[in-house]
Amino acid sequence: MEEIKQRIEALRAEIDRWNHQYYVLAQPAVSDFEFDRKLKELETLEAGHPEFYDPHSPTRRVGSDLNKAFVQVEHRYPMLSLSNTYSEEEVTDFYNRVRKALNEDFEMVCELKYDGTSISLIYENGTLVRAITRGDGTRGDDVTANVRTIKSIPLKLRGTDYPALFEIRGEILLPWLAFDRLNEERAEAGEPLFANPRNAAAGTLKTLNPQIVAQRKLDSYLYYLLGEKLPADGHFENLEKARTWGFKISDAVRKCSSLEEVFRFINYWNTERKNLPVATDGIVLKVNSTRQQLNLGWTAKSPRWAIAYKFQAESAETVLKSVDFQVGRVGTITPVANLEPVLLSGTIVKRASLHNEDIINKFDVHIGDVCRVEKGGEIIPKITGVNKDARTGAGEKVRFIEYCPACGTRLVRPEGEAAHYCPNNAGCAPQIKGMIEHFTGRKAMNINAGEETIHLFYEAGLVNDIAGLYEIRLEDMLKLERWGEKSAGNFLESIEASKQIPYDRVLYAIGIRFVGETVAKRLAKAFPSIEELMDATYEQLIAVDEIGDAIARSVLDYFSAGSNRELIRKLKSYGLQWALDAGILAERTDRLQGKTFVISGVFTEHSRDEYKELIEKNGGKNTGSISAKTHFVLAGENMGPAKLQKAKSLGIKIINEYEFLTMIQNQGI
Ligand code: IVH
Repeated sequence: MEEIKQRIEALRAEIDRWNHQYYVLAQPAVSDFEFDRKLKELETLEAGHPEFYDPHSPTRRVGSDLNKAFVQVEHRYPMLSLSNTYSEEEVTDFYNRVRKALNEDFEMVCELKYDGTSISLIYENGTLVRAITRGDGTRGDDVTANVRTIKSIPLKLRGTDYPALFEIRGEILLPWLAFDRLNEERAEAGEPLFANPRNAAAGTLKTLNPQIVAQRKLDSYLYYLLGEKLPADGHFENLEKARTWGFKISDAVRKCSSLEEVFRFINYWNTERKNLPVATDGIVLKVNSTRQQLNLGWTAKSPRWAIAYKFQAESAETVLKSVDFQVGRVGTITPVANLEPVLLSGTIVKRASLHNEDIINKFDVHIGDVCRVEKGGEIIPKITGVNKDARTGAGEKVRFIEYCPACGTRLVRPEGEAAHYCPNNAGCAPQIKGMIEHFTGRKAMNINAGEETIHLFYEAGLVNDIAGLYEIRLEDMLKLERWGEKSAGNFLESIEASKQIPYDRVLYAIGIRFVGETVAKRLAKAFPSIEELMDATYEQLIAVDEIGDAIARSVLDYFSAGSNRELIRKLKSYGLQWALDAGILAERTDRLQGKTFVISGVFTEHSRDEYKELIEKNGGKNTGSISAKTHFVLAGENMGPAKLQKAKSLGIKIINEYEFLTMIQNQGI
């Protein structure tokens, strides 16, 4: 027996070491064959000897990202779910069941059912010691480091009257505003969108970098205390106490002593919830007294003392008129249903997503079908089903296209993916235009050319790819309708300024699939020049924190295309930044000697303080307000209109951050 234990331990240590060498150091130490053989041996031994179970064994990581898994922790009290009801009758039944079982007076607590991802927080002596996801209800992931970044969750409690040890459960949420912003960023980066705030919150909580979690602005509502020595018997009273300790407890919590009150609560929130900053999908009813809760007990899956009443998903039926296939910036084909206009929770819906080929086939969609459209938590309405009984039989079956509707190239569907792509990135008009739009975007190269301009340039044959932007001459633009010296000048100026945009943003701008702003920053840090990135191997790529299989493959794919390498070569010859420039902040010059600056607004590349520092390092002077002595206003986003007006009236030159960076980098003023 001792021998087996020793063998298991030796295997675990050896495999751990190999994993570290492979995933962290990017220095594989053994062949895949040898690795698999040892892992198999360990699995077999462990299966035969459960007494040597160890949650940290390398076998526990198989199936997930090996170096990236969270530690699993057992819940002190299982995390059960609630049974769902959908009608007033079911709520009445529940109420009557409770009354009969208790056979004494009781109070109900009505709460909103928050639609996020559930969390269990453990506090010891007033300090947050652990945060665990629901997992399978018995064991969950330890996500403490991430949860600590959520501002509404107290790390230390206020007051002194909290139990020495207790657990509080609730929901982690991504508010609508933050959700919309996140998806906008992802859309711009060509990354897949989160379908709803719940997925976004759950995904964020499982992110491996707490800094990213911190940026995403998660919020929380807590709704359930557990422990041996809670302050009161009443759930409602405990929540009120928890509020004084610093927890975020919903204001929409009511004690009710009759069914009428319960229904009033339900009806009120059925419409009022639409004005809340976070997603809700129902109401939760709980018996208030803990003593009575214990009396009622639990079934295997859920408590008998509580239920959820789910709001109706917002949906409507309407006729499918036709299906379009749209080509996105990275070539993704999206099937879009054109519908007979229908009113759905306050807006008229004419188009809805048909997802992908698998869904089209699953629903067996025909033109003329009566389809169910839903908004639910999602931004884009979607088709959620087909009413086959209403089918007239006349319409044709919808089939996924085989060739790109824009350029005619045969579409591809990568193995394991649901989406189709047009592989002709360099020759497909919507992809080219989309790529250029992404490249010129404010967060990318910040070039003065929006959708319309790019369309115009493209149609006039002035651009055919990103590099083409740098080849446009003044006289070409002057030939365009309604283009004068001024607009052409603005464009050329922004082209010049774009040559100072740092490497990581250039990397984001060229539009590699799955390489959004954050990933680009990471890649730039790990591979400080484009040559290093172009030569990176799969192993080197996935060794970078947060870079997984999909991103690594996409990067390799991108640089394996000769046309992309050629594009980079061209862009390099035009003077774009292809390496990290760490020197810029450190350098001292007298390029701004005798010049006075006023800084106003919000900046993208450096903070205000960094700009102040840069001005001083280069011999310039900072002042707080604009006067006749000011030489330059360094203006960011959202500069106040009064300041702008004053600067203009005094004839002071207003420059943006890129013009400023050009100024201090090359030629001075
Ligand atoms: S109480 C044993 N209260 O709904 C009862 N749950 O289907 C524990 N939820 O897993 C849950 N809002 O993630 C409770 N006010 C609320 C809730 C709520 C949302 C979620 C929670 C739970 C699921 C149950």
